[in-house]
Amino acid sequence: MSASESLRPQPRPEIMAIEAYVPGKSGVSGLAKVHKLSSNESPLGPSPRAIEAFRASADQLALYPDGSARLLREAIGRRYGLDAEQIICGNGSDELIALLAHVFLRPGDEGLYSQYGFLEYPIAIRAAGAIPVMAKETRETADVDALLGKVSARTKIVYLANPNNPTGTYLPFSEVKRLHAGLPGDTLLVLDAAYAEYVARNDYAAGIELVATSDNVVMTRTFSKIHGLAYLRIGWAYAPAAIIAALNRVRGPFNVNGAAIAAGVAAIGDSAHVDAAAAHNARWLPWLTQQISALGIAVTPSVGNFLLLRFGQENGRTAADADRFLNARGFVLRAVGAYGLPDCLRLTVGTEEANEGVVAALAEFVKDGRRGG
Ligand SMILES: Cc1ncc(COP(=O)(O)O)c(C=O)c1O
Repeated sequence: MSASESLRPQPRPEIMAIEAYVPGKSGVSGLAKVHKLSSNESPLGPSPRAIEAFRASADQLALYPDGSARLLREAIGRRYGLDAEQIICGNGSDELIALLAHVFLRPGDEGLYSQYGFLEYPIAIRAAGAIPVMAKETRETADVDALLGKVSARTKIVYLANPNNPTGTYLPFSEVKRLHAGLPGDTLLVLDAAYAEYVARNDYAAGIELVATSDNVVMTRTFSKIHGLAYLRIGWAYAPAAIIAALNRVRGPFNVNGAAIAAGVAAIGDSAHVDAAAAHNARWLPWLTQQISALGIAVTPSVGNFLLLRFGQENGRTAADADRFLNARGFVLRAVGAYGLPDCLRLTVGTEEANEGVVAALAEFVKDGRRGG
């Protein structure tokens, strides 16, 4: 390092070791109409009541919002039968995932996550100065034995996305409880249930019961997926009071903006809209799975609002080839090489038009991908 460089502010080295999170692509240059199927957004959009509440908030732009997002916490509490004092809202659940790492990890501690777990986890762990530890998955599904096998005296946080992004797989509640039972009492288990509302399996639970009966479990949720409010950035967590108290000390004093609070309250009150979004997904997820599998593309069985598709390795048939081919036809999927899945693309369940269109385009790709690209 030269003398002049040493006089510059130096980020902590562990920060510079982080590969920045790259969100799904939004568009394709030169194409007017694009179906964005890369970020697991809701094809139905938000509740009309949420849009109205957002518009009405335009009259208040000069004012600071309620820093504790009380109305939103109370609305969430009513919806799920939870004490609003045990809820914290965030600027997206991303913010809460990061805050949990900052609050519970010291330099040298370990944060554990599973192989294809959401990429924010190792980022949050590293940013807190701790060491990310990854446990292998089995059939693209978190493996409780592998996770427990990686727990050491230094493990202070375990992140589990259930269902997981980008695989769409899930752990039954019995397995989540087995994971929790195997953790030391001073290790925090974060159950990230961003896609919980889509899951139609009677052995699944988002984690409310486990939070309510333990001192070391937090459940995070989001308004970005089934509520169709990704733009406004609203997440929340349900946690023991002691954990909420710690998080409240370090969050930004007005971390959730007023328009988000108003729209979130309206959205969570519109259960018919949530039901419609779940029904749309329940119709199209199996249809896409069946149609795409029939084309000879391997599809990981998903309980979320997206599917992981696996392509071949032959020149002209790879995931990168499919990505280019689909982009040229106005379909934007998510490349997941950063997750260690270079042969895969992730496809969000879209509108009827998008779903039918992407299947037709994939059929064309399978038929003559090399020439059509
Ligand atoms: C598993 C999982 N957790 C959390 C998030 C973050 O959601 P948000 O910050 O929009 O609430 C996402 C977003 O893609 C996700 O897939």
